[in-house]
Amino acid sequence: MKSPLLFAAALLAAGSIPLPAAAQQAPLKVGLMLPYSGTYAALGDMIEKGFKLYVQEQGGKLGGRELQYVKVDDESDPSKATDNVNKLIRRDRVDVLIGTVHSGVALAMARAAKESKTLLIVPNAGADAITGAQCAPNIFRSSFSNWQPGYAAGVVAAKKGYRRAMTITWNYAAGQETVKGFTEGFEKTGGKVVKDLGVPFPNVEFQALLTEIAAQKPDVVFAFFAGGGAVKFVKDYDAAGLKKTVPLVASGFLTDGTIEAQGASAEGILSTLHYADNLETPRNNAFRKSFALTYKQNADVYAVQGYDAAQMLGAGLAAVKGDISQHDKLDAAIARAKIDSPRGRFALSPQHNPIQDIYLREVKGKYNELVDIAVRALADPGRGCKL
Ligand code: BEZ
Repeated sequence: MKSPLLFAAALLAAGSIPLPAAAQQAPLKVGLMLPYSGTYAALGDMIEKGFKLYVQEQGGKLGGRELQYVKVDDESDPSKATDNVNKLIRRDRVDVLIGTVHSGVALAMARAAKESKTLLIVPNAGADAITGAQCAPNIFRSSFSNWQPGYAAGVVAAKKGYRRAMTITWNYAAGQETVKGFTEGFEKTGGKVVKDLGVPFPNVEFQALLTEIAAQKPDVVFAFFAGGGAVKFVKDYDAAGLKKTVPLVASGFLTDGTIEAQGASAEGILSTLHYADNLETPRNNAFRKSFALTYKQNADVYAVQGYDAAQMLGAGLAAVKGDISQHDKLDAAIARAKIDSPRGRFALSPQHNPIQDIYLREVKGKYNELVDIAVRALADPGRGCKL
């Protein structure tokens, strides 16, 4: 007589015993479209590390499925973005898109994701339209909208008593929208922006603009730069002697992931962001410890955003037991997920952007340390979104 084991194996081979849904499924294809070169290369690297750390903590699976990664270096180049994202969607047939850092590139990703109905989770780029006019049921963000840290910085600067501000940034969506948010918060709270300055992305020729700031002597300067460009800006601001004469209030990206390279030039800079290194919560402490043990480096905001993108994907996949073809159920589960983030728990707005505390931080040594909550539970207005 056949042993029960042999009998079951024979039935399995004949296809007459149904396997659990997840076991039948091939690995989930995750398209990681991030900058791995250029001024934002370090940001892409930290997002990927954060994403993979969460997956590793779940035993290498989300919703019962193994993950297979397909990576594209988007170079933070909007002119290549449509081709790059279409390679992932059409050639590689990924199940989900994770990306990216640069707002202009992310807007092209969002268009392609909306058309093809591919799930997209944005782990950084703040372009307001992604959870505004270009919103869609299958598009989510684990990070922020450009408006959020900008608006909070404006409120903080005005509350500190500054009245005349100048702004300085890269002339592309992230810089312009962050400055718009700053202006809204600053002017609503009693200040006036007297001049906006800008350079093309990713240029770092700041000298002429710093000379203009020195001549105008505003009460405060608001800046948005990130990655390699932020390192150069902070050093140039200090070298021009402005650090001692015109206070700088920034979007937190100016000093996140960049402090060590900025050295003493960054000391004391105030900025607003949805993360601070020393949030003394068990969740943040455990995350930072796990990140440091795994990668031998300190986590930053980009690592948090990557980690939370994986948490959001995990929440969706758990609801459909790994069957990503159940689009409506998957999207609904992500939309209602409560994410236990190192930054603090957050829910998503109806337009799929985190509703989150924006912290005021100050650079102390190698860390962006918490000073206060600049604006509590700040929701992006989601202007123009029809869902
Ligand atoms: C953006 O392009 O949206 C962006 C890039 C770096 C840091 C923050 C925002």
